[in-house]
Amino acid sequence: MQEINLLAKLPRGKKRDVNARATAKSDEVIRISREYGYGGYRYDGRWIPVAEDMVKHFGLKPGDRVLDVGCAKGFLVKDFMKACPGVEAFGLDISRYALMNCEPEVVGRLHLGNAMDLPFPDNSFKAVISLNTVHNLDRDQCIVALKEIQRVSGGRAYVQVDSYRTPEERQRFLDWVLTAHYHEYPEGWINTFKEAGYTGDYNWTIVE
Ligand SMILES: C[S@@+](CC[C@H](N)C(=O)[O-])C[C@H]1O[C@@H](n2cnc3c(N)ncnc32)[C@H](O)[C@@H]1O
Repeated sequence: MQEINLLAKLPRGKKRDVNARATAKSDEVIRISREYGYGGYRYDGRWIPVAEDMVKHFGLKPGDRVLDVGCAKGFLVKDFMKACPGVEAFGLDISRYALMNCEPEVVGRLHLGNAMDLPFPDNSFKAVISLNTVHNLDRDQCIVALKEIQRVSGGRAYVQVDSYRTPEERQRFLDWVLTAHYHEYPEGWINTFKEAGYTGDYNWTIVE
């Protein structure tokens, strides 16, 4: 288990306007975001260098299976197949809308399901990735999801979740957050990983 940034090559967006978001946030905005948070979410190939780094990190080869839990429209799944032709990439997401609007190249590769109940046998993937997804559950549910990721990956996994390293970062996060139910300082997350028996790699999404 190690902290490692496998998203280092993801282009950084413009600095977030946390003040504007804090003002605009309402229960309605949060509800819409939870249900339909895919507006303007278009494929642009930005995940290709990330997929290449993940292929290297996990030593993926043609024929190996990789799973993205919380895959949304399947951009990373598509880019795994570009980064390593012949790799068997799959995704799972709870949103039927996302799957119904997926990239054509991944039709049939995306499963509708819940991270807490992965419909796959033990150790069925060479690697399992889950980016900005399990923090949408509450703590107990998050532990169930982490156990599931551990079960199907055998610990060859990478999970990225919302976190903050200082009280200032925590406040920025609270002003920004729309969908995360569960968030922690890194030490808290590491305890949660241990409690779940999760031995894969991890990193933090921090609002800067
Ligand atoms: C913030 S998006 C992240 C999408 C993508 N992984 C990324 O990093 O761009 C979170 C995704 O997790 C999915 N999701 C939320 N709760 C889930 C659950 N319990 N099981 C599976 N997917 C879930 C949402 O539908 C959404 O597609």
